[in-house]
Amino acid sequence: ASTLNQLARTQGKYFGSATDNPELSDSAYTAILGGGEFGSTTPGNSMKWDATEPQQNQFSYARGDAVVDFAEAHDMMVRAHTLVWHNQLPSWLTSGNWSATQLTSILQNHIANVAGHYAGKVYSWDVVNEPFNEDGTYRSDLWYNTLGSGYIATALRAARAADPNAKLYINDYNTEGSGAKSDAMYNLVKSLKAQGVPIDGVGFQAHLAVQYGFPPGMQANLQRFADLGVDVAITELDVRMELPADSAKVATQATYYANVTKACIAVARCVGITIWDYTDKYSWVPGTFNGQGSALPWDENLNKKPSVYDAIATALGGS
Ligand code: G3I
Repeated sequence: ASTLNQLARTQGKYFGSATDNPELSDSAYTAILGGGEFGSTTPGNSMKWDATEPQQNQFSYARGDAVVDFAEAHDMMVRAHTLVWHNQLPSWLTSGNWSATQLTSILQNHIANVAGHYAGKVYSWDVVNEPFNEDGTYRSDLWYNTLGSGYIATALRAARAADPNAKLYINDYNTEGSGAKSDAMYNLVKSLKAQGVPIDGVGFQAHLAVQYGFPPGMQANLQRFADLGVDVAITELDVRMELPADSAKVATQATYYANVTKACIAVARCVGITIWDYTDKYSWVPGTFNGQGSALPWDENLNKKPSVYDAIATALGGS
């Protein structure tokens, strides 16, 4: 039988899983992570700002390097994540009362160092993560409030300078289907392209939930971004449900996984799919959404959920 990544490769795409450092000491877990199912990984936390620059201008790469080393040893690409976000920022950064000039140089210094450190070792960077509110306005955060939306172009230019070969992405959630937030991202990417700002791809996180329905028009939405001249990727896929799971919810979940996979397969510039870890043992969902979980294709005992796994494999062209 073929693995998910082998099937994806036959379609010219990759199939990946996020991971995190604590899990890398779980040998049953790493046997599957590095065992061929996944052609790419994303560090769930260890390349974020609080991890990489915990004190100003003091950089810390040990945990990010551990993920890169694991990937290299197991023939996996790395989708690096993330340079500019509103969350998981160190307190020296959030407690400072920075002028725009100061914050711009902090941003540029961070990106020069972190993307410079990983240059040549990562396939892509989520340069900017989650810039938008649900209504399509810019998120009110340190970056936007101090620098306006221009921080996005500043970050992309700094990333290109630091790592000319990495594919540079903007990544967000609830942009998978049509809607105000997706339109805002579309207009942003269109305008960045028109200004010659380096932007190579758009990431669609795809944190879906059985109880919220499937995003409307996903394939057409991915295609309209691709038509702007950028790659697209599914970057953090999971499909949570209200616990306990039952056969109807799992059937819906399997359909959602299949439909996301089919949408990516149908769009030539969709480069691949990453699930936000592969096993419920290490999913972020139960810690964030009380009473929800069972979001991933492998259960808490690292066993495949046959109907979910098979739905993805079939959508990837397996039989
Ligand atoms: O490191 C501390 C540890 O010292 C402490 O004992 C423990 C107690 O709670 O917390 C640990 O920090 C946790 C961190 O993950 C590392 O495990 C934080 O509480 C926890 O909030 C944090 O969650 C991460 C979350 O981003 C934070 O926003 C998840 O692991 C990570 O999967 C999640 O990933 C995000 C993407 O970056 C962006 N898209 C959404 C996605 C899911 O939220």
